[in-house]
Amino acid sequence: MILRLPRGALVVLIGASGAGKSTFAAAHFQPSQVLSSDAMRALVADDPNDQSATEPAFELLHTLLALRLARARLTVVDATNVERWARERLLAVARRHRRPAAAIVIDLPLEICLERNAARDDRTVPAAAVRRQHATLRRSIGSLAEEGFRQVWRLDAPQSVSEARVELA
Ligand code: UTP
Ligand code: MG
Repeated sequence: MILRLPRGALVVLIGASGAGKSTFAAAHFQPSQVLSSDAMRALVADDPNDQSATEPAFELLHTLLALRLARARLTVVDATNVERWARERLLAVARRHRRPAAAIVIDLPLEICLERNAARDDRTVPAAAVRRQHATLRRSIGSLAEEGFRQVWRLDAPQSVSEARVELA
């Protein structure tokens, strides 16, 4: 699948922990184009795992997103983004700067997310949290276009993820 992204767009990665969002972002985008919640936690708390730093981390993420979209720089948000309210906040920034928004949904079977998550050496998210994220994501899929994403791509198998190509319009 070819993912053709408009220039200067907001690109929201959506997927449970372990789905491979950060791996996908690193494979297809420049590091400066990717804003990840973990990197923001590290910047404010010296620890990408420090969940107590979630609020300032997202404040920083939204601030950087706004500064980049104001300059029409394509920006990828690497966080789970499975909750509608989390996506709403990102879409509001894009709307304010009149930038198009695209969603890339990494919707792999729950078992793969759990397996990859358990095998990680950087950090492991509790299995119950991964299950919850996966279920929340599944409920969201049908309404992404109506939320305001101009383009929605769903990658539903490891092969679709590895075969995906990103192009700039
Ligand atoms: P990621 O660290 O990319 O997942 O991959 P994520 O979606 O960003 O997870 P969170 O939300 O930050 O927690 C998770 C694990 O799966 C492996 C990665 O190497 C990593 O250990 N992985 C990822 C694969 O084995 N194959 C892939 O195609 C992608
Ligand atoms: Mg990640």
